[in-house]
Amino acid sequence: MTAFLLTNIGELTTNVAVGGDPCGTLHDAAILVEDGRVEWTGPADRAPDGGAAADVVDAGGRAVIPGFVDSHTHLVFGGDRAEEFAARMAGEQYAAGGIRTTVAATRAATDDELRTRLGAFVAEARAQGTTTLEIKTGYGLDVETETRLARLAAQVTEEVTFLGAHVVPLEFADRADDYVDLVSGGMLAAVGPHARWIDAFCEAGAFSLAQSRRVLEAGRAAGLGIRVHGNQLGYGEGVALAVALGAAAVDHCTYLSDDDVAALAGSGTVATLLPGVEFSTRQPYPDARRLLDAGVTVALASDCNPGSSFTSSMPLMIALAVREMRMTPAEALWAATAGGARALRRDDVGAIAPGARADLVLLDAPTPVHLAYRPGVPLVRRVWKDGVEI
Ligand code: NIG
Ligand code: FE
Repeated sequence: MTAFLLTNIGELTTNVAVGGDPCGTLHDAAILVEDGRVEWTGPADRAPDGGAAADVVDAGGRAVIPGFVDSHTHLVFGGDRAEEFAARMAGEQYAAGGIRTTVAATRAATDDELRTRLGAFVAEARAQGTTTLEIKTGYGLDVETETRLARLAAQVTEEVTFLGAHVVPLEFADRADDYVDLVSGGMLAAVGPHARWIDAFCEAGAFSLAQSRRVLEAGRAAGLGIRVHGNQLGYGEGVALAVALGAAAVDHCTYLSDDDVAALAGSGTVATLLPGVEFSTRQPYPDARRLLDAGVTVALASDCNPGSSFTSSMPLMIALAVREMRMTPAEALWAATAGGARALRRDDVGAIAPGARADLVLLDAPTPVHLAYRPGVPLVRRVWKDGVEI
């Protein structure tokens, strides 16, 4: 048995709700970790000793939070789109079609190249406190490359999403329905065994409501859970589709009608907001306050991808959500941890509770408010995943 006691924590965010505090904040606290799981949390002066073998780690009065759960990334790809970003900052508009540039670079890359790159992105995310990562395919868009991407992603996470319905590839131009047949047929059969989830980009310039529904229903019949990209570039039917299908999450939610908000509020579908996208595409931010006030469960994720949000930084998402989306620091922290766990339908991550995975982040700050208060400053001091320091 390996055990350690993390003690002298100035402020501990457990996400185990107490009274009116969904973050379950404890002061002068300690955590006992045994065999990769949280064994106990509570006041430091009442901590069990964990047996003679337990090491003691002194937090020095700093804050400890659950590891971030980044429930939306696209981390397996070749090339980058720095020129497209520069053009956009000079006034060009973002469009879904840019995805095809990355598809060409990804198809041309070897497995070793993609694996090395992916490993570097995962290390970058971990160093910033992300301990659970969802990763999508979607830059292959042929059976062989989508399968390669899913296999590579499965080497670094259990949360792999098949996104064959990301955009219609060039070789299927003017034959979108034939491509949808492929995605929901042979491509799903090849990629599905490596994935837990299926996703579709339901948006003008990508896939229609009917096409998205066909792909998602085929995925569900193959045993995959459903997630949706929707309402990113304009009002649309992505949210309604996600709720109707009982999706775990609908992601982006930048343009929402009152009906969309009401449908989300009465559903088990999480609204995942991706403010890195609005930052990097110079679009208006989604209104998190409107969703929270309606009772919708909100998650924050990075959407790390080479086109619309090339950052893996969850602290940046928190800062943007607080500054630009009317979330409080506590709401943003919850959304980036427990919210992400809800979006992935996981109860073993996103909280520091007995039995949960010991995914912990020690901040170089007295409280997690500093994540938004000190934007751009590297405040993540130490990270443990499954009780092992990274
Ligand atoms: O989540 N919206 C669709 N997919 C990505 C963008 C991918 C790209 O531009 O390469 C997103 O923003
Ligand atoms: Fe995305």
